[in-house]
Amino acid sequence: MDKLLIKGGRRLSGTLKVSGAKNSALPILAGALLTDKSVVIGNVPHLHDVTTMIELLGCLGANVVIDEKMRVEVSANDLRELRAPYELVKTMRASFLVMGPLLAKYGRADVSLPGGCAIGARPVDQHLKGFEALGAEINVVDGYVSATAEHGLKGAEFTFDLVTVTGTENVIMAACLADGITRIHNAACEPEVVDLVEFLNAMGARISGHGTPNVEITGVTALAGCVFDVMPDRVETGTYLIAAAATGGRVRLDGARPDTLQAVLDKLIESGAELSLGDDWIELDMGGKRPLAVDITTAPYPMFPTDMQAQYLAMNAIAKGTSRVTETIFENRFMHVQEINRLGANIELVGPSTAIVHGVDSLKAAPVMATDLRASFSLVVAALVAVGETLIDRIYHIDRGYETIEEKLLQLGADVQRVSG
Ligand code: EPZ
Repeated sequence: MDKLLIKGGRRLSGTLKVSGAKNSALPILAGALLTDKSVVIGNVPHLHDVTTMIELLGCLGANVVIDEKMRVEVSANDLRELRAPYELVKTMRASFLVMGPLLAKYGRADVSLPGGCAIGARPVDQHLKGFEALGAEINVVDGYVSATAEHGLKGAEFTFDLVTVTGTENVIMAACLADGITRIHNAACEPEVVDLVEFLNAMGARISGHGTPNVEITGVTALAGCVFDVMPDRVETGTYLIAAAATGGRVRLDGARPDTLQAVLDKLIESGAELSLGDDWIELDMGGKRPLAVDITTAPYPMFPTDMQAQYLAMNAIAKGTSRVTETIFENRFMHVQEINRLGANIELVGPSTAIVHGVDSLKAAPVMATDLRASFSLVVAALVAVGETLIDRIYHIDRGYETIEEKLLQLGADVQRVSG
């Protein structure tokens, strides 16, 4: 099992190119199932989760070709299978995103219920409620969700009980081929939802209101092919900015979209960073200063994203002052806290959703273990500032969501190496 060995104490500096967004590439790849024509998807990040989704498309019978520039061509014109097996879905819950497209295009889909995961139970009841509103019949048998719509899906008006990113994406994809108009309320407004809708509209879907809580989809009889580039990864962008700020460094991120992570940029300024922004780049200069502690509360977009809570908490661990970090999206997203405390941090959990972080002057290296994707990068941030060499175990979590992490960290001057065994 690979590990990362990081020798802390270096300021990150230099320039990085931001990769394509994992959480946009995954629904877009699933959306390719909605058409018989071939689609070409560019700027796809080279990540384990993307490989899993491509494997799933192949298992359903789609023809997937990846060229040397990591552009993915998907032709789903003769699926032989409408069943997403547990073996694949259990490794990546975003596999559940094939349900909406299969149900819309073929009137049937059998997808394994995604199990829970480290950060929470993460049920899919809202996805199923949306499919039922569109006229699907849903049965859960032997751990599989079996959805049928013999006479096709019908447009409907539907309100989510809570904001769900992939729930919104799944129901929008199902509604694309429904008969009539669908109006979804309390929809997620995340940029990745908007990116998916831009892709679907490029295929000939008729969707409006994306990026707002009220989305309208006018069903069409068929979708065409298209060529589409995935948006830059705002979580990767924010993560490297936080890592640079924590080390007092100075970085420039090219190919970024500052407009998609304004809440994080605002917090970085509060922490004492100087930011310069362009349409497609962000420059952060911490000027060697120690960050100031800032309070964080996660919430649906455009508020502070839950996917950057762990990384920011790691920076707060060595900041000047005490901060309160409140996680409102997932019920168990503080597993990184006890690991960072092993490095000498002073963080106390107050109930299931709040951490009080008493900033300390320095951290000291110790062996730690990654528990989930974003928590694993919070350990990287802590290791980058800790005195000594920190060995981070179970970094397969990191490989799921961060493309070529050690190359990018080395490019910014970090002392890092991947060790096997
Ligand atoms: C997406 O997950 C992202 N994944 C997550 O990123 C991200 O943390 C999350 O949205 C929140 O922004 C992808 O886009 C592939 P939700 P998703 O449905 O859609 C509850 C990462 O690190 N809920 O918005 O699964 C759920 O339990 C990953 O890249 C229900 O109760 O999240 C959670 O508490 C981690 N019933 C809350 O809603 C449902 O039917 C928000 O979950 C659906 C969700």
